[in-house]
Amino acid sequence: MSTNSDTTRQPLPSLTGGAGGGSFIDGKATAAAIKAEIAEEVKKIVAAGGKRPHLAAILVGHDGGSETYVSNKVRACEECGFQSTLIRFEDDITEEELLSCVSRLNRDDSVDGFIVQLPLPRHIDEQKVIEAIDYRKDVDGFHPINVGRMAIGLPAFVSATPKGILELLRRYGVETSGKKCVILGRSNIVGKPMSQLMMQKGVDATVTVCHSRSKTLKEECLQADIIIAAIGQPAFLKGDMVKPGVVVIDVGTTRVPDASRKSGFRLQGDVDFDSVAPLASKITPVPGGVGPMTICMLMQNTLAAGKKEYYD
Ligand code: GUN
Repeated sequence: MSTNSDTTRQPLPSLTGGAGGGSFIDGKATAAAIKAEIAEEVKKIVAAGGKRPHLAAILVGHDGGSETYVSNKVRACEECGFQSTLIRFEDDITEEELLSCVSRLNRDDSVDGFIVQLPLPRHIDEQKVIEAIDYRKDVDGFHPINVGRMAIGLPAFVSATPKGILELLRRYGVETSGKKCVILGRSNIVGKPMSQLMMQKGVDATVTVCHSRSKTLKEECLQADIIIAAIGQPAFLKGDMVKPGVVVIDVGTTRVPDASRKSGFRLQGDVDFDSVAPLASKITPVPGGVGPMTICMLMQNTLAAGKKEYYD
């Protein structure tokens, strides 16, 4: 896995209103610093006559969340000095047409890596599409070859959200070795890869994964040194479920109605910030925590794809 773990750590601003004396983990500032590092490297590559990394994104339909994510990815490409290509389809595209686009991108030597933004319309088999992507261009790290290689510690594209969380923990000096880490949620994109990464050699956490059927979820959380909440339920983790000093990473980004906002909604994490933050030694805000890091790690994966870092 490529990392930038040894570069400058971010300053830790005090939690406003937090009685625990803890601090924010500032994903926005960390992502900006990493994107600047990537842009610097791209400049050097291009100046030396190398190829500018090129990310393509396929977006099907007009889901509001997906539109935002993809336009943020395109903007991040600009910030990093990458070439980007956005390919759009209406949501009545057939599976066959989408697979044929994937196959074209697999063969296009100008494209270093590409993503198919999820979710896809229900008539399309998502797993079939993921498996059709050439694993050497799978900068999302969703292909079973990348998932499997990551799980056994081989170089691979790693799913951006867990990779970004690990990077935040490293940059903020969070001790993980021998610590009890509880992961809430078992999704293929976050919970499962996160559990693999937290237990890998060098990270060395003791990992517990809790999910909707777990009977001892609260008891597990109360013992945790680190909690990574990726359960998809707004404000799920409350203050009475955590111990003082806990490090809390909030992956949730549910849009909840908010009449006071121009957009009519606000983003709510999986953590009830007001009751948890006063107890936490470090905590990620929503927005501005994990979200910006996810896109930034996609940029890191694209740079690695351009450099053929994992695969020839
Ligand atoms: N939908 C939500 N998160 C992601 C992601 O990381 N990659 C893709 N392709 N789709 C998503």
